[in-house]
Amino acid sequence: MGNEFSEHRAHSAEYFGDTRDSWWNHDYVELLARRWGLSRVREVLDVGCGVGHWGRVLGGVLPRAARITGVDRDPVWVEKAAERAAARGETERFRYQVGIAEQLPFEGDTFDLVTCQTVLIHAADPAAMIAEMVRVARPGGLVAAAEPNNLAGALLDAAVLRAPVEETLTLVRFQLLCERGKAALGEGHSSLGELVPELFARHGLLDIQVYLNDKASGVLPPYASAEQRATVEEISDFARRDFWIWSRSDTHRYFLAGGGEEHDFEACWAAALAAAHRNAEAIARGTYASAGGTVGYIVCGTKPFPHSSRHLPAPPLHRDR
Ligand SMILES: C[S@@+](CC[C@H](N)C(=O)[O-])C[C@H]1O[C@@H](n2cnc3c(N)ncnc32)[C@H](O)[C@@H]1O
Repeated sequence: MGNEFSEHRAHSAEYFGDTRDSWWNHDYVELLARRWGLSRVREVLDVGCGVGHWGRVLGGVLPRAARITGVDRDPVWVEKAAERAAARGETERFRYQVGIAEQLPFEGDTFDLVTCQTVLIHAADPAAMIAEMVRVARPGGLVAAAEPNNLAGALLDAAVLRAPVEETLTLVRFQLLCERGKAALGEGHSSLGELVPELFARHGLLDIQVYLNDKASGVLPPYASAEQRATVEEISDFARRDFWIWSRSDTHRYFLAGGGEEHDFEACWAAALAAAHRNAEAIARGTYASAGGTVGYIVCGTKPFPHSSRHLPAPPLHRDR
């Protein structure tokens, strides 16, 4: 239980804990697979694969014959993803290699499905990543991105309903400034999910569809399931280590880059930690409960055939209903 990767200094290590295994309802992913016609898919590219969570979720609904290639710029994650596939006895089906999303090491027009999860939100230039994803997709193939609006999470907490209005506004403002600063520093926009449909359209994808992940990670005492225990453990662990959404030093950098004033930082940081500690204390008392919602968009679009008009229906993978 917990996060075996949290001591790694590599990208996103804080978010590769057990809770990540529970981000999707399997029957909902099956529904996506039917909508997207994944039964015909053979070659899949998982961009920014990390240790392979998203590819594995998709692997559960893809045909046995489908091969999933994961690329990540971080060699540590590529190695871990390969180890995890080997431990499952799936080295033939899941392959991993080092690669930069903005310069994917593949020929054009190669993959039936090119996809990513929580990767565009880390991109200095998400348009460059999307351009590459489109390039390596085959004509008629699908490009799909699962990317959140994390800012919405600032309001998705039962404590918000009870907290003083000013305190909630302070925290929302703090997160908004930090998200803007992170983007300004070229470290990605944490709520980019909101902009992905427009970016897909600008890159010529057709038949763009936008969905919401229907998974909520609700927790109720006594936190009886493994999934609930992983969730409350993560909340408690972050609070114990004074880790908010980011570390203190990253949060400080983002806040200033987003237009926050140095003299405001300590008060904002203290308010964020106080809220996190209150939740952790409620967990320790066995009184913490949460509906556990997040706003996770799934956006997909079809790569057109050369010279196809935007007004002609491209022969898509879509619609296997
Ligand atoms: C939040 S993790 C998501 C991992 C995986 N997609 C998942 O959902 O579990 C973001 C991943 O993107 C990778 N990444 C970030 N920028 C990248 C880039 N420009 N090229 C390739 N990988 C990148 C990071 O190394 C990290 O593993």
